[in-house]
Amino acid sequence: PVAQPASATGEHPPGAALVGTKYVKVPKNDPSQAKEANDAPKFPIAPRMTADKGRVPHVASTQQYLEMWQRSVDKPAEFFAEQARELLSWMTPFSVAHHGDLHHGDASWFLDGTLNASYICVDRHAFATPDKVAIIYEADHPDRPHVEITYRELLRQVCQLAGALHAQGLRKGDAVGIYLPNTAHAVVAMLACARLGLVHSVIFAGFSAEALRDRLRDCQCKVLITADQGMRAGKEINIKSIADEALREAPMVQKVIVHKRTGNPNVKMDPTRDIYWDEAVKSHRPYCPPVPMAAEDPLFMLYTSGSTGKPKGLMHTTAGYLLGAALSTKYVFDVHEGDKFACVADVGWITGHSYIVYGPLALGTTTLVFEGVPTWPEPDMYWRLIQKHKLTQFYTSPTALRALRKFGDEPVKKYDLTSVRVLGSVGEPIDPNTWMWLHDVVGKGEAAIVDTYWQTETGAHVLTPLPGAIETKPGSATVPFFGVRPAILDPQTGEELEGNDVSGVLAFKQAWPSMARTVFGDHDRYLETYVRPYPGYYFTGDGCTRDHDGYLWIKGRVDDVINNAGHRLSVAEIESALTAHETCAEAAVVGAPDEIAGQCVIAFVTLKHTHIPTSEIPALLTYAVRRSIGPIATPKRIIIVPDLPKTRSGKVMRRILRKIVANETDSLGDLSTLSDPSVVQTIIDLHNNKQ
Ligand code: WTA
Repeated sequence: PVAQPASATGEHPPGAALVGTKYVKVPKNDPSQAKEANDAPKFPIAPRMTADKGRVPHVASTQQYLEMWQRSVDKPAEFFAEQARELLSWMTPFSVAHHGDLHHGDASWFLDGTLNASYICVDRHAFATPDKVAIIYEADHPDRPHVEITYRELLRQVCQLAGALHAQGLRKGDAVGIYLPNTAHAVVAMLACARLGLVHSVIFAGFSAEALRDRLRDCQCKVLITADQGMRAGKEINIKSIADEALREAPMVQKVIVHKRTGNPNVKMDPTRDIYWDEAVKSHRPYCPPVPMAAEDPLFMLYTSGSTGKPKGLMHTTAGYLLGAALSTKYVFDVHEGDKFACVADVGWITGHSYIVYGPLALGTTTLVFEGVPTWPEPDMYWRLIQKHKLTQFYTSPTALRALRKFGDEPVKKYDLTSVRVLGSVGEPIDPNTWMWLHDVVGKGEAAIVDTYWQTETGAHVLTPLPGAIETKPGSATVPFFGVRPAILDPQTGEELEGNDVSGVLAFKQAWPSMARTVFGDHDRYLETYVRPYPGYYFTGDGCTRDHDGYLWIKGRVDDVINNAGHRLSVAEIESALTAHETCAEAAVVGAPDEIAGQCVIAFVTLKHTHIPTSEIPALLTYAVRRSIGPIATPKRIIIVPDLPKTRSGKVMRRILRKIVANETDSLGDLSTLSDPSVVQTIIDLHNNKQ
């Protein structure tokens, strides 16, 4: 347990002082939080899980789940060794299943085995079921015919690109940046890297040139795979020119492979550096042997935002990660032979990595890649896709569902959605009303709903119902997945809160195979963020309640991370983008409740004395944020204030600003520690007086 004196402002719990984590809100062990959860209705196993007698769910009863889960946490080495032998293919079998622990941050799995992720996701299915469709690619426009790629064809495409990467001199361990729209090409690019043991670093195509540049530099990428343009809701996005701008300050990238997504003739190519994908691959044979990788060799890294400004490149390993992705896809979505699986995330996020690419393909399932948005051209794109392809699993986010629900039930009712057995939600807490809509209107009360809680760091689901075994409650991620032993800690003392009806911060008591192993280039930061705050535990950064049934309810981030439409944004990163602008003296960024996006970004800024507030300044500052991070971080409002609420020692009290944006000004708490309490009323007036 962590024991430190409370900090001067009372805003941070002692654990936070120890690690420098900034807490947004610290859930106290407040019985009213559990009460809300305890009043929730419970739904039985969904009818579609058991309707087909020929298909028994992989886990078909609560009892079976409990037995499997207990074994997975009591004898993790044994349990996961069995799963790893069954679900993966080994070039060299492992003899040591597990080593290390959370205390030392050295947990590792299947250490002496070798394997190749691309072989597991492609070759073995290309040999066994060559004509099976591996990828269905649905482009941004519904009138554009979809593309189906069989496993046989996928192997050819992956091998040819791997050949091209090899020809560039890339070898095992080298990093490759991928900045592509959500297309089948992105999947091929990831698998081609995995084939050669190149560590891919996918950067979401909504990130700005500066964000891309920083990520490419951090991991020293030698090659970038990108596209001429992207398409989003019918609009062209000039991906290549953003990449060009990033590359001006990322000279370590020596070669750029460009996928012709739109073929726009105005896209500029640098003949000494850039080559079109088709040109690059055409001289390479459509078979290229997979490179044997040690189980703990990196498969990829993926950047995510934390409490501090600089994004962390989380590193995932070949075997542990792949096992987590495959195991959770199999059990949480109850995937069976003949299923067609759709995760409508973007491959630029961990959800896309695990549930568009690695999980479904490791199992030899058909996976759908959707480039478009749910509401364009009509708010029925998802339902159209389900009917058209007879999808059996559909995985999306609360933000998308809230946006779609606004259009009413009619767009859903036009389509036959009876093929879907499991509907999944991820990325942010799903409010009970949205859960009920998904259940009643989309699932007609017959499909299972799985609210899956996990993180970039966890690699795969950590809390989730299993659809054939666990009864659900709207708004609860229910129970732990295999290998996960959750604990609710008192944030102040670090003591574990035993029993039911408790609230605190969520941590995990033991290592599981798919957890991230390190922060690229900064292992100390990994320890500092995840394992030192509460020694012996992995700290999630989320608040959590355990209700009277033992069900878990995620209460959102307790650190300075804003979850906007399921995108993790760092308060510090947005603030530094604002203060880098010539007009801005200080900035304080907070998350406000948002009807659709869950949370939105509100920025309070003070200006330098050399600048007077004008109506243009918020627009200039908005642009500065979009430039530095990308459109996803755009503040909903930027409010110019004469001063920020500060303590006498000069610390900004974001707690007060959070209350103001949540319209909870009647519970601002003690203002007497502020150096100038009168500034609070001015800020409230400026906030209410919507500029
Ligand atoms: C939040 C996305 C409630 C949480 C897979 C977590 C959720 C962060 C859920 C990770 C859920 C994700 N219920 N909150 N089902 N799923 N979160 O790394 O705050 O982009 O810490 O991974 O999203 O976001 P990340």
